[in-house]
Amino acid sequence: MRPAIRAAGADDLPALVALDEVCFGAEAWSTVAWSTEFDRLSEDRVILVADEGSVVGYAVLLVPPVALDVVELLRIAVSPAERRTGIGGQLMTAALARCAGRTVLLEVAAGNDSALGLYEGFGFEEISRRRGYYAGGEDAVIMRWRETV
Ligand SMILES: CC(C)(COP(=O)(O)OP(=O)(O)OC[C@H]1O[C@@H](n2cnc3c(N)ncnc32)[C@H](O)[C@@H]1OP(=O)(O)O)[C@@H](O)C(=O)NCCC(=O)NCCS
Repeated sequence: MRPAIRAAGADDLPALVALDEVCFGAEAWSTVAWSTEFDRLSEDRVILVADEGSVVGYAVLLVPPVALDVVELLRIAVSPAERRTGIGGQLMTAALARCAGRTVLLEVAAGNDSALGLYEGFGFEEISRRRGYYAGGEDAVIMRWRETV
């Protein structure tokens, strides 16, 4: 069954906190941080979830109301057991559908092959690096997507 991609509601908060912990461990956002994301839904945040009865993936975007301002993809993740089945792609398709005419930026660890594969597949291109940005000295890769017409 392919999950439905839908906008998150406040009821999804506990599931997102739990799944983020599974996906990011020590780098997971706290409940307070997630609550702040939800508080900003009416302002500049978009939270999408992949729902197949339970939440199996999510994406968080910062979408400034000024159209010229860049969108940032803050987070995208899929439950480990469900990876490589197309859910990340489904989430990305839904996210980019909300970014018509805009520039989208993201940052990814240079060694995160799965995320890099996903992003490159959707046309994101490396535009810059932050050398040794992450703990352990790994580079952060800055990638950009622009809608091609
Ligand atoms: C990155 C992530 C969201 C991809 O989700 P996914 O559901 O597995 O992705 P999909 O199945 O839709 O795959 C889409 C494409 O991404 C690429 N990809 C996904 N996993 C990959 C891997 N392990 N190695 C190389 N490319 C990969 C492939 O191009 C793939 O297309 P294909 O299956 O036709 O070859 C998932 O691996 C994840 O949650 N990782 C941990 C969290 C994370 O690092 N998020 C990014 C930083 S915020």
